[in-house]
Formats: sequence, C-alpha cells, structure tokens
Amino acid sequence: MRLGLLASGRGSNAEAILTAIDDGRLDAQPVVLICDRAGAPALEVARRHIVPAELIERASYATREAWSTAIRDCLLANRVDEVALAGFAAILDPVVVDAFEGRILNIHPSLLPAFAGSVAPEPQAAALREGVRSSGCTVHIVTNDVDAGPIVAQAAVPVLRDETVESLSARILVEEHRLYPEVLQWVAEGRVRIAGTKAFVDQAP
Ligand code: GRF
Repeated sequence: MRLGLLASGRGSNAEAILTAIDDGRLDAQPVVLICDRAGAPALEVARRHIVPAELIERASYATREAWSTAIRDCLLANRVDEVALAGFAAILDPVVVDAFEGRILNIHPSLLPAFAGSVAPEPQAAALREGVRSSGCTVHIVTNDVDAGPIVAQAAVPVLRDETVESLSARILVEEHRLYPEVLQWVAEGRVRIAGTKAFVDQAP
C-alpha cells in the first residue's frame, strides 16, 4: 500500500504512523508527506523518517481549485493508493476527494458525529463545555461532507473531574496514536469495506 500523508502542524499522528511502519506493525510504503504550512513540525517528522515532503501552500496558488489540483496531482504522481489526513487543518476540495474516493482516512478528536466540523482543540473544548462523560477519537473515511464519512473505528476516553482541554487532548492523543496505525493496517489487509454510509471491518483471516 503506497501511503500519502497530509499534515499541517505538529505531526504527532504522522510520527505514530511512520513509526508503526518502521516497526513492522503497519505494512505500507510511505511515499509522500504533503504539508500546507511552511515551518510545520510535520515536515521535520517526514525528514527524520526519510519520507519525501512536499510543501503545497494555499498562498502559492491563485485559486483554491488550483491549490487542490496541485495536491491531487502530487498524490497521483506518487501513485498513492491510500491517503491519511494526519492533522491536516484545511478542508479537502472535491477535486481531491473524488479522485481518491473511499481511499482517504481522517482522524478527528471526538466521538463523531459529536463535535464535528471544527479542528483541534475545539472538539475537545466542546466536549468539556457540553459536560459529556466520554469523548475520544474517530477514524473515518473522508467524503465531501466534512467529518461525516463512514466511521471505521473509535476509541473512547472518560472525561475526568477537573479536566482541562489540555489534559483531555493529551489522553485522546494517546488513543489516536494507537488507533490510526491499526486502522491503516486493516486497510492494507483489505479488511475495510464501505457499504453506503457505513464502513465495516472484516475479521482477520
Ligand atoms: C489531532 O488531535 C487530530 O485528531 C486532529 O488534529 C490533531 C493533529 O495533531 N485532526 P498532530 O498534528 O497529528 O500532532
């Protein structure tokens, strides 16, 4: 499985995925990491793991469509089979989503469909504001409806007394780093099926 990563910031999920590949827990070949922000730590993560990094910034393109087309063409040029959004802070346009239909995964720091449509740390802050007793993370397939594609896996964490956005985010992040490489391995094994609005994971043979 030729894997493309898209990241905008810290890059800890990219780090977890690339470490799983290095350790032999994830059978994938990371062929490119695309970043839309100059200076993002995610670029350094790619460099350390010897993965080619491409900076494709929105500001370098006249239109959003031209920028999206550049992202799509970079993924196609690298013959990417599967795309993992790993802290990619922008919404992907249909030009990318349609070219890789059903083959783009995202991780979101809440139990979707709760607290959709915003980027970290807003979903964690919303969980505290609403007083929910559990939150967590969701790996889902990306469609043109933001944060609403088929759910592949979730991990729940309890919301503790005296919780802060930082403490909740940190405990959710531990689960993100465990879950995302695991789901990618299921995809590599051909075990994730999409049926309408739902995803199903077949048993390991
Ligand atoms: C994570 O909380 C992830 O769920 C969300 O954005 C954050 C990215 O963190 N999509 P990192 O860049 O992977 O460290």
